[in-house]
Amino acid sequence: MYTDTAPQADRHALSAEHAETIRATLPAVGAHITEIAQLFYRTMFSRHPELLADTFNRGNQRSGEQQKALAASVATFAAMLVDESAPSPVDLLTRIGHKHVSLGITRDQYQVVHDNLFHAIAEVLGEAVTPPVAEAWDRVYWIMADVLTGFEQGLYDSAGVDAGDVFVPARLTERRRLTGSVMRYSFAAEGFAATRPGQYTSLGVRLPDGARQLRQYSLVEWDEAGFSVAVQRDGEVSSHLQDHVREGDTIDATLPAGHLVLHQFTSPIVTVSQGIGSTPMAGMLMALIRRLDTEQGAGSRPEHPITVLHADASEDDYAFRDLAEEVTSRLHAPLVTAFRDRGERLDLGALAGAGTLPVGAQWYLCGGNAFLQDVRDQLEAHKTTLFPVEVHFELFSPNDWLLR
Ligand SMILES: Cc1cc2nc3c(=O)[nH]c(=O)nc-3n(C[C@H](O)[C@H](O)[C@H](O)COP(=O)(O)OP(=O)(O)OC[C@H]3O[C@@H](n4cnc5c(N)ncnc54)[C@H](O)[C@@H]3O)c2cc1C
Ligand code: HEM
Repeated sequence: MYTDTAPQADRHALSAEHAETIRATLPAVGAHITEIAQLFYRTMFSRHPELLADTFNRGNQRSGEQQKALAASVATFAAMLVDESAPSPVDLLTRIGHKHVSLGITRDQYQVVHDNLFHAIAEVLGEAVTPPVAEAWDRVYWIMADVLTGFEQGLYDSAGVDAGDVFVPARLTERRRLTGSVMRYSFAAEGFAATRPGQYTSLGVRLPDGARQLRQYSLVEWDEAGFSVAVQRDGEVSSHLQDHVREGDTIDATLPAGHLVLHQFTSPIVTVSQGIGSTPMAGMLMALIRRLDTEQGAGSRPEHPITVLHADASEDDYAFRDLAEEVTSRLHAPLVTAFRDRGERLDLGALAGAGTLPVGAQWYLCGGNAFLQDVRDQLEAHKTTLFPVEVHFELFSPNDWLLR
């Protein structure tokens, strides 16, 4: 599922009166937003336990990541509506929209979220929530919901499916160990031929307590017959996949979604990954090879330089090392690695100085929060030598805009 149309919020959708009320109450709501989000989820899951079991990621609920994500997104959106100088949170909305369609979220569920969210706001803020305050925040919620559902409908339309109808059976055809903690899985499934390089699927497994938990996995390869992913052992779903799902078993998968996709190849490309963050890069680099072979003939040289940077705990932990060596050799691309057990670090200044990094490149980043922050800071520090034209990134946890 993909659309080039960005989710756009109309800054003037709020009346002057509502905007005034939001400006006046934003500090109070902002100060209590985490508390509101926590109560919201608690109430919603007690009324709708099936949402926690089958739709939401209960690992993120335990760690508090999702509460922070929802709270930050609503506060960011409200601030944008009442402050002309605040940037439109297009990236944030795009990311949320893709995540929602990858889980089959539908418009009717926005009413459920609304009712529980507003119950939590009233509980936490008490008498401060007068009818005009409630009305103004209600308006903000539905403006945001309209932007999201409109964008999400566009994504469902792009795949020609009804809203929410994204689940397909995926039968495991092959399991292969890549490293001590990473396994590669190939599934037979329909609906993956239109995947954009860099996208992910949500895999759903039925756990021993009956919950059907979903997690996202970046697509490494895909065609009309199926797809493959690489999964690192971590918590309950990844461990369940490794310990209990065997060849011939069928699990749930959702149609491909995700905003981090390979753009037009009109400038140099640098991919930067850390750990299992190399999965979307593997998908993108192999797609680049396919594109070159089809458009310019087998074995042809890319018209812009490509550079692949990867950081990992150790050489043995680099799940796609063999593949990276193969594709970088085919693409005539330097492969630069940094392994923590050798005390190495990706140092963009040093690499730029050595002439390894192209100027004016599109950068694709994927890794942990701290790693991405570090790379973004380095890019910022060297922007007058590297002149990056675009920096795209994917995070495997739910709070990317906090990095901005
Ligand atoms: C867009 C996207 C693409 C992704 N692509 C990939 C991919 O290609 N390959 C891949 O392996 N992963 C990928 N991920 C990550 C993947 O979706 C899962 O998040 C990952 O597999 C962990 O899920 P889990 O169920 O195994 O762990 P969970 O049970 O969800 O736990 C996650 C982490 O939280 C910790 N945790 C659990 N409970 C608590 C608690 N109470 N307090 C503190 N910590 C706790 C666990 O120990 C674990 O480290 C991607 C994520 C996203 C969003
Ligand atoms: C205006 C309303 C909404 C807002 C502002 C919102 C916001 C968010 C945000 C910020 C994320 C995290 C995205 C990321 O991974 O970075 C998210 C994910 C998610 N949302 Fe929403 N959402 C809304 C409505 C809904 C509705 C109606 C549902 C359905 C019940 C829903 C279900 C989910 C689920 C299941 C996730 C993934 C959770 C996870 O993986 O932990 N959301 N949403």
